[in-house]
Amino acid sequence: VPLAPHTTLELGGPAARFASVTDVDSLVHLLALAEEREVPVAILGGGSNLVVSDAGFDGLVIAMRMRGVTTTRQDDVVLVEAAAGEPWDELVDRATSAGLAGLECLSGIPGLVGATPIQNVGAYGQEVADTIASVRVFDRVEKRVVELTPAQCEFAYRDSMFKRDPDRYVVLSVVFALVPDGPATVCYAELERALEGSPRDVRTVRETVIALRRAKSMVVDPADPNHRSAGSFFTNPIVDASLADALSAQHESMPRWPQPDGRVKLAAGWLIERAGITKGMRRGNVGISTKHALALVHHGGGTTAELLALASEVQDAVRARFGVELHREPVLWR
Ligand code: EPU
Repeated sequence: VPLAPHTTLELGGPAARFASVTDVDSLVHLLALAEEREVPVAILGGGSNLVVSDAGFDGLVIAMRMRGVTTTRQDDVVLVEAAAGEPWDELVDRATSAGLAGLECLSGIPGLVGATPIQNVGAYGQEVADTIASVRVFDRVEKRVVELTPAQCEFAYRDSMFKRDPDRYVVLSVVFALVPDGPATVCYAELERALEGSPRDVRTVRETVIALRRAKSMVVDPADPNHRSAGSFFTNPIVDASLADALSAQHESMPRWPQPDGRVKLAAGWLIERAGITKGMRRGNVGISTKHALALVHHGGGTTAELLALASEVQDAVRARFGVELHREPVLWR
């Protein structure tokens, strides 16, 4: 079964076996069967943060397609529970239409709900960790459904316990605690500027964020020549203050965000451009997005090997120029 059509990069080889599941029982049954037959399993969401090797996946791919959203009022918040297979942006659309605050900055992001806690999806000063009340998972070791607290998820910048222990849990649904008629989060300079003179309700913030993302080719739009991508291909590196200060001394305009632990987050896109990798640069059938240096794009007819070679070229250039290591953001199946 070809996997490329299941990824936004539209790259990679086939899966030996493929199944879609729309309920938890079928998922549990398939996992048991695969374990009994010693077949490796990979869990597929929306494929928007996924790189599949050219060899594909020699095992069973399970596509999470369970749907459903339930809403309950609890004291000052509204608890919204969404199944793993719900399209993320439909959930954000629904929440903001209902005047619920907490997800508005995460508008226009591709993919499905179940993936959001794994990499702690974030944008424009908000991340899902800010509103997640619990995550319901199937524990593949204990073989039971458990409800994890946010503390148990160990969220950090683009990171969680799920990323560090990737084969243990399958996310079934996520509960978000949202604030009715709550204030929108506006704490990112670029968003702040774009909103100047506009009302700051969650609906306006959603529309403004979508416009900003569209301008950077960060929404999936088949008409956009940069559309085959996995969004940011690298995380923004967090470095020691001493290195950040040394770099700032040489480059006054370098963007930097101080972290609670004293280290400093740098802008990978900025580093990439200053390392001589220009927007729109091409290597065969892959290249750098014309709108954002942090997005690698596939132009069609390419291979994952080409994409990974370009990724290494970018990492080498940034390491050589700045002594900073960039880490790949999407998940890699090989
Ligand atoms: N920059 C450049 N050149 C570029 C791109 C960016 O110099 O080609 C500079 C910008 O001028 C700015 C800084 O880098 O000063 C930050 O850029 P931007 O605001 O576009 O955000 P980002 O750090 O590149 C992160 C997230 C995005 C998220 C945006 C907005 C990561 C890895 N990426 O990108 O998330 O949408 O902030 O909040 O943290 C994703 O993860 O796939 C993703 C799209």
